[in-house]
Amino acid sequence: MKTLKQLGLIFALSFAALSGNAQKNEYAIIPEPLQLKAQSGQFEFSGTTAGIYFESGGDAASEQAFFILTERLQQAAGISLKRVSSAQNAAIVCRLNTKLAKTEAYKLDVTKSKITIEARDAAGFFYAAQTLRQLLPVEIENQTVQTNVKWKVPCCQINDSPQYAYRGMHLDVSRHFSTKEEVMFYIDQLAFLKINTFHWHLTDDQGWRIEIKKYPKLTTVGAWRYRTLDGAFVSAPNRKWNLEKHGGFYTQDEVKEVVAYAQKRHINVLPEIEMPGHAVAALAAYPQFSCSGGPFEVEGLWGVFNDVYCTREETFTFLQNILDEVVPLFPYNYIHIGGDECPKMRWGRCAACQKRMADEGIKDTHALQSYFISRMGKYLEAKGKQIIGWDEILEGGLAEGATVMSWRGTEGGIAAAKMGHNVIMTPNAYMYLDQYQSEAKESEPHAIGGYLPIEKVYDYNPLPSELTAEESKYILGVQGNVWTEYMINKDIREFRIFPRIDAVAENGWLPQSKKNYPDFKRRLEQKVKRYDIIGIPYSKTFLK
Ligand code: ACM
Ligand code: ZN
Repeated sequence: MKTLKQLGLIFALSFAALSGNAQKNEYAIIPEPLQLKAQSGQFEFSGTTAGIYFESGGDAASEQAFFILTERLQQAAGISLKRVSSAQNAAIVCRLNTKLAKTEAYKLDVTKSKITIEARDAAGFFYAAQTLRQLLPVEIENQTVQTNVKWKVPCCQINDSPQYAYRGMHLDVSRHFSTKEEVMFYIDQLAFLKINTFHWHLTDDQGWRIEIKKYPKLTTVGAWRYRTLDGAFVSAPNRKWNLEKHGGFYTQDEVKEVVAYAQKRHINVLPEIEMPGHAVAALAAYPQFSCSGGPFEVEGLWGVFNDVYCTREETFTFLQNILDEVVPLFPYNYIHIGGDECPKMRWGRCAACQKRMADEGIKDTHALQSYFISRMGKYLEAKGKQIIGWDEILEGGLAEGATVMSWRGTEGGIAAAKMGHNVIMTPNAYMYLDQYQSEAKESEPHAIGGYLPIEKVYDYNPLPSELTAEESKYILGVQGNVWTEYMINKDIREFRIFPRIDAVAENGWLPQSKKNYPDFKRRLEQKVKRYDIIGIPYSKTFLK
C-alpha cells in the first residue's frame, strides 16, 4: 500500500506532466472548447474496424455528422468506423441530449476504454467530431494510410458551446474568381473551425458570378473582363494592365451543389447580390438599368464607381426577377443585398431618379438609397427572407428588420444594436484579411495595404463595450472578410486567409474572458502542421 506521501508525489508528478507543454499540446483544439478538463491516459483507435453506436437510434443527420471523421480514419489510418448496434462493441457512443443549453453544443468524454458524445442536435455531433479529429495525431489529415502512427486520443472531458450564433467567413469571387472546387475546399476549412456561415460575395463591378436564366447576358457579358489592374494602384498614366481575359461564373446547378456541400458541413450560405452600387458588371450587360444608359465595360480597376442602378421602375423589376431566381437556390433565411459605397452623383442628375424622389416624397439621395433598400427588403420579406446590408444602409433610415454588417468600424453596429437591429461585426481594422500580416510588406505578395497581424485579429472583441446587456443580444456574431482585388490566385488567397481565419473562428466561439493569445499561439503551432499536410500555404509570420 502506498503511503500518503507517495500518493502525493504521484499526484504532483502527474499534474506536472499534464501541465507541461508536451502534454498540453495533445490538446491543441481551435477554437478552444469552452471547458476542457485534461485527464491522464489515452483512448486508442486500432484494428480495421471501430464501432460507433447511437443510443435511441440516432437520426440520419446525427449519423451523417461523423462523415469527415469516418473519412479521415479510413484514409489516414485504414480504420473503418462502422455503425454498430450495441454500446458494448462501440469505440464511440452517441447520445442525444436535448437538455444542453445551446444549439450546436456538445459534450465529449474520452476515457481509456470509450468515447462518449452528447449533443442536442446534428451540428453538435458534427462539432464533437471536429474536436475529436483535432485530438487525434496530426497525421490523421493525410490522404494515404500512415503506418507507424498510433491513433491515440488523450483522455479528457469537454463541455462546449459557441459564444455567437453567427460565425462567418466571406469570400469575394468577383474581383478574382474562385472555382467551385476552391470554394468547396474553403468550406471544408470553415467546417474544421466550426464556422457556420459562408458569405459568398457573388456580384460586383468586376464580375457577375451567378447564372440568372432570365438575363443570360449577366454571365455571357458580365462575368468576363478584358483587362485587370496589374500590381499597385497607381495614378492612371503609370498603371500596368494585365490583358488576359478574366472571369467565370457558377451555373445554378453548381450553386446548388455548393449549398448542399456546405449544408452537409453545417454551414449556411449567405449570398450577396450587390445593390444599388458596385453594379458595373451588371450594367455592362444591361445598361438600360443605369441612369445614363451607358455603354459600360466590366471593370478591371478597383474602387468605387459612379454608375449605379437607376431608381426607375424597370430596375426594380430587373432586380426582383433576379432575386426570384436567387432565393430558391439558398435555403438560409438571409440574403445580403450589399448597400455599401453607392455614390449618389448620377441620381442627383437623372430625370427618372428626380421623378422618383418627387413622386415618393423623398427628401435627398441618401433617403433614396434607403427607399431602394427598404423596397428590396420588403420584396424579400414577402418571400420569407430577411436582408443583411453593409453599414451604409443606416444612412437615410434603416430598413425595417434589416441586419447590419458593420465594416467601416464598430459605430454602425453599435448604432444598429441600439435601434434594436441585429448586427454582425466585421470592422475593417480587425476583420479584413486583405491586409498584410507582416511588417515586412515586401516579403508578401502585393496587398491592398494595412497591417493586420494575427494577434490583432485575435484580440478583437466582437461585443462593443458601449452596449448594455440588453443591446448586446443584437450582436449575432463576427466575420472575417476576404476581398480579392490583390489576391490573384488560390495560393495568395490561402496565404492571406490562413492562419488568421483560426483567430476569427476563436473570436466567434469563445467568450472574450476565455481568450488567451499565448495559448492560442501554442495551439496554432500544432494546427499548422495539419495545414502542412493538407497543403495550405499559410503565413508563418505568427511564429516569429
Ligand atoms: C466593403 O468593404 N465595401 C463592404
Ligand atoms: Zn436614375
